[in-house]
Amino acid sequence: MLLPSLSCLPLETFQDEVLVLVFFCEECEMAATSATTFSVGSAISFGPKASQLPHSKPFGVRFNSKNSLANFSGLKAATFVSCESETSFMSKETAQALRSSFARKAQKPNQTQYGLQPQASFKVAILGAAGGIGQPLALLVKMSPLVSALHLYDIANVKGVAADLSHCNTPSQVLDYTGASELANCLKGVNVVVIPAGVPRKPGMTRDDLFNINANIVKTLVEAVADNCPDAFIHIISNPVNSTVPIAAEVLKQKGVYDPKKLFGVTTLDVVRANTFVAQKKNLKLIDVDVPVIGGHAGITILPLLSKTKPSVSFTDEEVKELTVRIQNAGTEVVEAKAGAGSATLSMAYAAARFVESSLRALDGDGDVYECAYVESNLTELPFFASRVKLGRKGVEALISSDLQGLTEYEQKALDALKPELKGSIEKGIAFVQKEAVSA
Ligand code: NAD
Ligand code: LMR
Repeated sequence: MLLPSLSCLPLETFQDEVLVLVFFCEECEMAATSATTFSVGSAISFGPKASQLPHSKPFGVRFNSKNSLANFSGLKAATFVSCESETSFMSKETAQALRSSFARKAQKPNQTQYGLQPQASFKVAILGAAGGIGQPLALLVKMSPLVSALHLYDIANVKGVAADLSHCNTPSQVLDYTGASELANCLKGVNVVVIPAGVPRKPGMTRDDLFNINANIVKTLVEAVADNCPDAFIHIISNPVNSTVPIAAEVLKQKGVYDPKKLFGVTTLDVVRANTFVAQKKNLKLIDVDVPVIGGHAGITILPLLSKTKPSVSFTDEEVKELTVRIQNAGTEVVEAKAGAGSATLSMAYAAARFVESSLRALDGDGDVYECAYVESNLTELPFFASRVKLGRKGVEALISSDLQGLTEYEQKALDALKPELKGSIEKGIAFVQKEAVSA
């Protein structure tokens, strides 16, 4: 049996395993997870480089290719392929739903156009959609079976992004909105608004150095959210998150529509990094690793609770220090590697897509959704704090306090040390909105 349109993009290959990004396989009616385990019957070749690259497992994604690989021609593969979703920002249920959403309406022979039966029902808006994060994030959200409409907004260049993305045969409709005059229409009826609009860091800058530009951008965008979709979940990505979330809260309060359960600073990337680095260090299967990361999203305010790693792992003091510092500086690691061309975009898009997916599952009634996020909190004396939260239809259903109990001495000291900086960033954000209100 031929698989005419299995789109497998090999990202990295190694001895008997190949990392793949899978979008959609019409023939076996599966796919659209960003990371999927494939059992290959035969006849897929990844070219001469297939066995030349070093053995590594960066994302714990396996392509079991003990069988011979042949005839791979770029984006096409042939012969029997069975696919089993293993690790993804999408849950198994969601991946299954995506498969079903592509079910053919009728099995007519020689029919080339398949009818789609989307199960999707949620509308997602991305503000800053033409940017480094916005574009790959839009692509990943386009793959969600839970999304019926994807509204892309930017001050420029969003038409092309939307036209491009709209050709993907996944259920959601893609609409583009450019400039302030189209913002209100972009937001009407939306369930989740994701905000990656703003400038990124260059080497030598802190996230707080972005405050002067991004504070205004976030304030303006959240004002529009308040006016047009006050019930939506709001995901703030724009830095400095430690201040932009309090800014958003203050704007929503002034508009009389603040619901603290629905405002989130996206810190998922810290968890994604912590999971990756711990799995690498301890040689663990990546899909199993879960490290809660608390505090905020800048330097020492990012506090991975390695003692709470699941599965339970023991670390030497040196390992704890090394891992903690690496997780705290991971954003800077990327900024320096990009050498002036911006900050993390692809890993951030992945992390943000995971958080969107979790939010949509919660909105859809899944009662078992937990993520770390920077939210209004009473877990410490600070008004905003990142911790694990339980998500439900109405947003944050519970803050998970147990992670903060029984901290190691190292973690407790680090928690005490981060509080003054985080407090200062929160107060700076609140003061910015209050000052603007007075001078208006
Ligand atoms: P980018 O410059 O590539 O993209 C930003 C986009 O925002 C651009 O397309 C720009 O046109 C748009 N934009 C600017 N002003 C706007 C406005 N008023 N309304 C709508 N769109 C507007 O930057 P990027 O790499 O995508 O990063 C965006 C932000 O995300 C930065 O502030 C960065 O620091 C932050 N970030 C946060 C995390 C996190 O973990 N929370 C991770 C990575 C980056
Ligand atoms: C990150 O953690 O990658 C982002 O906050 C971007 C940055 O400036 O480091």
